[in-house]
Amino acid sequence: MKFAFSEISLPKRGSLAVPVFADNTLSPMAQDVDDITGGVLSRALETSRFKGKKGDLLEILAPQDMDVSRVVLFGVGEPEDLKLVDFESLGGSLVRKLNTSGARNVTVILDGLESNDLRDNEAAAHVAFGAKLGSYRFAKYKTDEDDASEPSLLRMTVACKASSGARKLFTDLEAIAEGVFLTRDLVSEPANILYPESFADKCRELTSLGVEVEILDEDKMARLGMGALLGVGQGSVRESRMAIMRWNGAPNKKSKKPIAFVGKGVCFDTGGISLKPGPGMEEMKWDMGGAGTVTGLMKALAGRKAKVNVIGVVALVENMPDGNAQRPGDIVTSMSGQTIEILNTDAEGRLVLADALWYTQDRFDPELMIDLATLTGAIIITLGHENAGLFANNDDLADQIFSAGKTVGEGVWRLPMQPEYAKQVKSPIADLQNIGTGGRGAGSIVAAEFLQKFVNDTPWAHLDIAGMAWSKKDTSTVPKGGTGYGVRLLDQFIRKNHEGK
Ligand code: BES
Ligand code: MN
Ligand code: ZN
Repeated sequence: MKFAFSEISLPKRGSLAVPVFADNTLSPMAQDVDDITGGVLSRALETSRFKGKKGDLLEILAPQDMDVSRVVLFGVGEPEDLKLVDFESLGGSLVRKLNTSGARNVTVILDGLESNDLRDNEAAAHVAFGAKLGSYRFAKYKTDEDDASEPSLLRMTVACKASSGARKLFTDLEAIAEGVFLTRDLVSEPANILYPESFADKCRELTSLGVEVEILDEDKMARLGMGALLGVGQGSVRESRMAIMRWNGAPNKKSKKPIAFVGKGVCFDTGGISLKPGPGMEEMKWDMGGAGTVTGLMKALAGRKAKVNVIGVVALVENMPDGNAQRPGDIVTSMSGQTIEILNTDAEGRLVLADALWYTQDRFDPELMIDLATLTGAIIITLGHENAGLFANNDDLADQIFSAGKTVGEGVWRLPMQPEYAKQVKSPIADLQNIGTGGRGAGSIVAAEFLQKFVNDTPWAHLDIAGMAWSKKDTSTVPKGGTGYGVRLLDQFIRKNHEGK
């Protein structure tokens, strides 16, 4: 789909979308359309339940005395209340509606929004951004055209008062959307296609955007002493990999310490010898969601040429039961030197992250480090699918991530860390054990405490995204499947706190 911006005027053909405010007050352009058509809009409003509320949509086909093929009325409620995410939802719902209706071109008129604090160009750019995010599909395995129900919409023009400014802002947003799409693609891809090596190949493709990519194979990781990560992968015929992506965009390149992102990339999690139950196991193809977000984020940052130095590290393994698989009771030595007693082979994410976090900190001495992982089922019990769990050793960092989440509409909620929980991962015969002594209690916190054993004094945050990486229902900007959660959140975090935007 293509996007364009124009000044406010009525289009000659295609479809037209115009705003309606609370209590069905028409925008000036909507009023013009009503006049031209001899009151078609007013009559349509009278006979429907449309109230001009945020999210209301009403489609009028073949309006009389106009060449446009349809007029879509969109409710905006009280315009002064609209936030960026509302404009994104608007774009997303329009695109989703029109894609199934046969429309090919639409002009969205943003008029009558003077009372809104946002600048016109921002509002317009975010309508297009939301539309782009909502237009995503994962249809590559649909071979039957009819079944795939090809979307009809090819072009959206957003008409606003500041179209050249909007066009400029949208360039960056489009790069971010491309990052989100890469994450969604990776997360939705099945594990017979996306496994550690092929995932690493996907990372390598980012070199075309100027990202430096380095891949560690099993020999290299063994020499580095990554016994925790390698233990998880040893039951799989697919070899483990670690991919390191670097984007050096800071103006005074060398001097600036990088910001590091680390992702759990378990390309399939059967649980290993501590095998998971069969029903629902297919979901574990998206247990690489953290790595997917880190990779999509690198694409977004490189795509918009972010003025910051960033490292993205993804730890890629497959957790399988096998004659060669790791057993409950095994003791492995992590790169940090700490030994770990494996009491449950299904608590594997923390094992791969242990070595990935240590490696990242040891090699790059980052200014701060944020990891993302579909780490625990318990976080879904705690927070459902509305917020990721946030854990941090630094209050400022936690606050910054929280407020970035508010801005872009990707929720995070902080949970506590304290020594009482950390005690639970001490093993009687090794330094650590990979599950807590507290049974099902505080599972997500105990997992975070385990991770913290591999972080020194680097400011660090951990996002447990098990409830966020995948969605079973459509929303206006996030179709069901891989959500791409975290790319916009962390892009905003960087933009706000590390690029002075
Ligand atoms: N990948 C799972 C966590 C998960 C569960 C993600 C559901 C998404 C949806 C993780 O590796 C896991 O199996 N965790 C165990 C930990 C337990 C053994 C301490 C869990 O949550 O049950
Ligand atoms: Mn597991
Ligand atoms: Zn897992």
